[in-house]
Amino acid sequence: PSPTARFALHPAFTVGQVHPRLFGSFVEHLGRCVYTGIHEPGHPEADAAGLRQDVLALVRELGVTAIRYPGGNFVSNFRWEDSVGPVADRPRRLDLAWRTTEPNAFGLSEFMAFLKKLGPDAEPMLALNLGTRGVAEALELLEYANHPAGSALAERRIGHGDKEPFGVRMWCLGNELDGPWQTGHKTAAEYGRLAAETARAMRQYDPELTLVACGSSNQGMPTFGAWEAEVLTETYDLVDHISLHAYYEEKDGDRDSFLASAADMDSFIENVVATCDHVGAKLKSDKRIQLSFDEWNVWYQHRFHEQIEAEPLDWPEAPRLLEDHYTVTDAVVFGSLLITLLRHADRVTAACLAQLVNVIAPIMTEPGGPAWRQTTFFPFAQASRHGRGEVLDVRADSPTYRTKKYGEVPLLHTTAVRDPESGAVTVFAVNRSQSETLPLRVALDAGLALTRIEEHSVLSDADPDARNTLEDPERVTPHPGEGAALGADGLTAELEPLSWTMIRLA
Ligand code: AHR
Repeated sequence: PSPTARFALHPAFTVGQVHPRLFGSFVEHLGRCVYTGIHEPGHPEADAAGLRQDVLALVRELGVTAIRYPGGNFVSNFRWEDSVGPVADRPRRLDLAWRTTEPNAFGLSEFMAFLKKLGPDAEPMLALNLGTRGVAEALELLEYANHPAGSALAERRIGHGDKEPFGVRMWCLGNELDGPWQTGHKTAAEYGRLAAETARAMRQYDPELTLVACGSSNQGMPTFGAWEAEVLTETYDLVDHISLHAYYEEKDGDRDSFLASAADMDSFIENVVATCDHVGAKLKSDKRIQLSFDEWNVWYQHRFHEQIEAEPLDWPEAPRLLEDHYTVTDAVVFGSLLITLLRHADRVTAACLAQLVNVIAPIMTEPGGPAWRQTTFFPFAQASRHGRGEVLDVRADSPTYRTKKYGEVPLLHTTAVRDPESGAVTVFAVNRSQSETLPLRVALDAGLALTRIEEHSVLSDADPDARNTLEDPERVTPHPGEGAALGADGLTAELEPLSWTMIRLA
């Protein structure tokens, strides 16, 4: 028999409370995320505002909370004024980030209407252009968005038909300004200063805003660490979060390493926490900076580069870009990234799955046609629905396997979340083995008072490359798991090879 993975759960050993913003997502004016994604006037499913109802229903089912908008790289040359007011009067602009043309047919007001339709749990996370613009424009957008009435920009919003202020609480101070590809790329000193000035001015209007400073675009950046330290030294008292971004893809057929991508995310988080706390200690501050992992996903970046090398973009409108079609393997990696975010719920209090529709997304659409769920949709929807409450401290003892990139890695990656009201516990687990079932034993403290298995759901497939497509949109869906049991010794289960599993205990 293959070796068994084990862990114990105890109600007193916890990591922290899951913040609703952990289940955020991201809508950028990129490719078909907005146009023919969430917004497609004339589509049979579109409402009077052009919002696709089929997409809205899927976004609701996905359980997305905060949505970051409007970029991404796009935001660093974006003029927010272009995106408000009568649509017919809005200018067409060149988007330098993606070499496309932005028609501005969808803007701030339409985005807020979209959020409203999602329901009361969806909140905006607006990104500011600190690439080509600065403090003045940030303040103007803040006034337009949040001031109730009686000032020029509040009245402009009201004149545009939005009587109620948008009440945006969370603001990102720019995007990936450490990256040389970013319009208005800056050094850490330049950015830190600008972020501090912007934050200070915004807090003069509203001290309670939640502000996010840009961290590194990924852990591999040559400036990683030094960037965070310098930016935080400038902004420590002025911001609440520092951002992290990370994307993973299978390279050179090394699936073993790809399956262990969460090891990179884990060390990334731990390194940023260490830097934050080091700066805090140096500044003799009791404040703890939070982490906003506001871009994360599996993304086959090399396919994008191949596409634009083969046919450079000549300023098209809403072209097909970054339209990755995710496999079961991708969903398992994706699930393990979600597990890692949950395991760090004490410090990661915001996270955005990048992105929401069509662009490296859990939801795909066809112009004039249907919308469907990718494989990655399912772990997110399950975790958002059942992963609320307190994350239990899980220290698993698991058999390992060898990877080129990360050395020995556990086959099991797991977390458990307890709903403090009902006492229900949900275990999320990934088996990274490509060929072997992984036996699992979970010792449950009597204080948890768990008596039954409510649900056992598995995402796996005989074909690890199976995916959902326009032609076969339901090829991959979760299926009920078999053979899990709850007894005097706790929970026993068999985790299928290359699988994502959710077991709900009540
Ligand atoms: O999500 C795609 C892009 O990835 C974003 O625009 C950018 O912020 C990141 O590099």
